[in-house]
Order: sequence, then structure tokens, then C-alpha cells
Amino acid sequence: MRQLLYTSTATPDITERDVRLIVGASQYRNAIEEITGILLFDGQRFLQFVEGAGPAITALMHRLYGDPRHGDIVVRHDVMVERRTFPIWSMRWVHLADRVEARRETIGRTIPTTLDSKVQREVHGFASLG
Ligand SMILES: Cc1cc2nc3c(=O)[nH]c(=O)nc-3n(C[C@H](O)[C@H](O)[C@H](O)COP(=O)(O)O)c2cc1C
Repeated sequence: MRQLLYTSTATPDITERDVRLIVGASQYRNAIEEITGILLFDGQRFLQFVEGAGPAITALMHRLYGDPRHGDIVVRHDVMVERRTFPIWSMRWVHLADRVEARRETIGRTIPTTLDSKVQREVHGFASLG
């Protein structure tokens, strides 16, 4: 199982509606590809964490690199693991509130404590940026 976390910059004209469409299509596609993970969007940047079979993640990354809805993809974590940390969600959109404290609460509730500690730090760091 491959785990990958990246951040990217959304194209300036992207809306919440666009993100909802991305998440809807991703949930459908990821269920078929047996990819699970989460997506965070703070209005300007994305953080996505994905887990799946190596070739499925490689294929997804190729599609992501070619997607004009975002750019500046920075891979921050890319490892092979024994088993999934996110067994249920094909792609969960974690909505971020405006207040940083509320964001921290949301992340605390959403992220399993079994998740790799480096990944947890990346997600908390992203969500804590005002
Ligand atoms: C921030 C972001 C996250 C995305 N996450 C996924 C995902 O988890 N799974 C997926 O299949 N496509 C995801 N996509 C969409 C892909 O980039 C791509 O458009 C989609 O997989 C369809 O690719 P295709 O038209 O080449 O078949 C995401 C796009 C963006 C901008």
C-alpha cells in the first residue's frame, strides 16, 4: 500500500462548487481504484492525502499533474505501508472553517490517531494557517 501526501495551489478562479465536483468525481473513481484519503481546501491551497496500491497512486498522480485546476504540486510524504489508515472514505472533503481554532477542532475529530505522525503534522500545519 502506498501513502502519498501533497499540497498544491488552486487556480485563482476556483470555487467551492468546483471543489464539490472534484470530490464527487474523485469518490466515484477512487472507489473503483480502491484509493482512500482526504482532501483539504483552504480557499487557495489543497492538501490531499491518498492511500492505495502503488500503480493506482502513480496513475492518479499523473492525472493530478495534468489537471489545470491546480498547480505547484509538492509531494511531502510518499511511503509504502502495511495497511490502510483510512479504510472507509474513498475521498473525504474536510471543510475548513474560517477560524483557526475551529479548523484545529475539525482536524482533531477527523484524522485517525493511528495515522503516520508526519502526515498528522502536515495536516495540522496546513489547517492551522490562518
Ligand atoms: C485537488 C484535486 C484533487 C483530486 N483528487 C482526485 C482523486 O482523489 N481521485 C481522482 O480520480 N481524481 C482526482 N482529481 C481529478 C483528477 O485530476 C482528474 O481530473 C480525474 O481523475 C479524471 O482524469 P481523466 O479525465 O484523465 O480520466 C483531483 C483533482 C484536483 C484538482
